[in-house]
This record gives sequence, structure tokens and C-alpha cells, in this order.
Amino acid sequence: MAKIYTYEDVAQHSTSEDAWIVIDNRVYEVTKFLDEHPGGEEILLEMAGADATTNFLDIGHSDDAMKILKTRYIGDIDPSSKPIPKKVVETTSSETKGSGKLASVIALICFVIGYYLLN
Ligand code: HEM
Repeated sequence: MAKIYTYEDVAQHSTSEDAWIVIDNRVYEVTKFLDEHPGGEEILLEMAGADATTNFLDIGHSDDAMKILKTRYIGDIDPSSKPIPKKVVETTSSETKGSGKLASVIALICFVIGYYLLN
């Protein structure tokens, strides 16, 4: 009998040392495959701990990819469990911080130039 996992269980495995992924209600352990993935480690790690069905199908993976997938199968998703949306990484705040820093540096340079011009 296949092991049954919830999306909460899968979400506990979202790091490069321990990565699970859900495709079509099946759970796959992909830790060792991360650095072998022809599409890159990053993209797969981004989906670790979550449902990657849409992303996996959108790429149009080959039969070879399906074969690799089968070797990583560890169990099924509990049908009553609901997918947990992956947290979107917030990039805007750090970008604003970055440009704020740049603005202060420019303001400081203007101030110094202005100071020397006036004296
Ligand atoms: C355990 C799951 C996965 C397996 C076994 C797998 C396997 C593979 C394999 C064998 C390839 C080479 C091309 C092919 O044979 O289709 C590939 C390419 C690729 N995969 Fe995956 N993949 C997995 C999950 C994912 C996911 C979740 C994503 C997207 C988030 C993804 C994105 C890509 C991309 C972008 C390429 C490159 C396509 C290209 O350069 O043409 N893969 N993958």
C-alpha cells in the first residue's frame, strides 16, 4: 500500500537537503535529483514542498523525465488535503531599500560638490 501524505507533510520538505514535490497527487522525493535536473536546481527547489503539477506539465517534460519521476515516487496525497499556496518571495521591499540607498549617496555627492562650489 502506498503511503499517504498531506500537503502539510510535504511542506516540511522544502530545502536542498530534503526536498519533496507533488505532481498529479503523487509525492516524490527529489533531494538527490536536484543537482541532476537538466532544467536546473533552482527551478525545482522553488517548487520543493509544494504542488508542481502545472509547472511540470507546462514544460512538456519527455518520457525520460516521466521515467526518472517514477523512480522518485514515495507515496500519494491524502485526497482530503488541500494544496498550500507557496509563499511569494517579496522582492519589492529590498529593491526600494536599494534605490533609497542610491538616492542618499547621490544626495551626499551633490551636497559635497555644492559645498565646494560655494566656498
Ligand atoms: C521530479 C520532477 C522532475 C523531473 C524528473 C524532471 C526532469 C527533467 C528532465 C529529464 C529534463 C530534460 C528534458 C526532458 O527530458 O524533458 C528536464 C528539463 C526541464 N525541467 Fe524538469 N523535471 C522535474 C520537475 C520540473 C519542474 C517542477 C519544473 C518547473 C518548475 C521543471 C522545469 C524544467 C525546465 C525549465 C527544463 C528545461 C527545458 C529545456 O531546456 O528545454 N522541471 N526536467
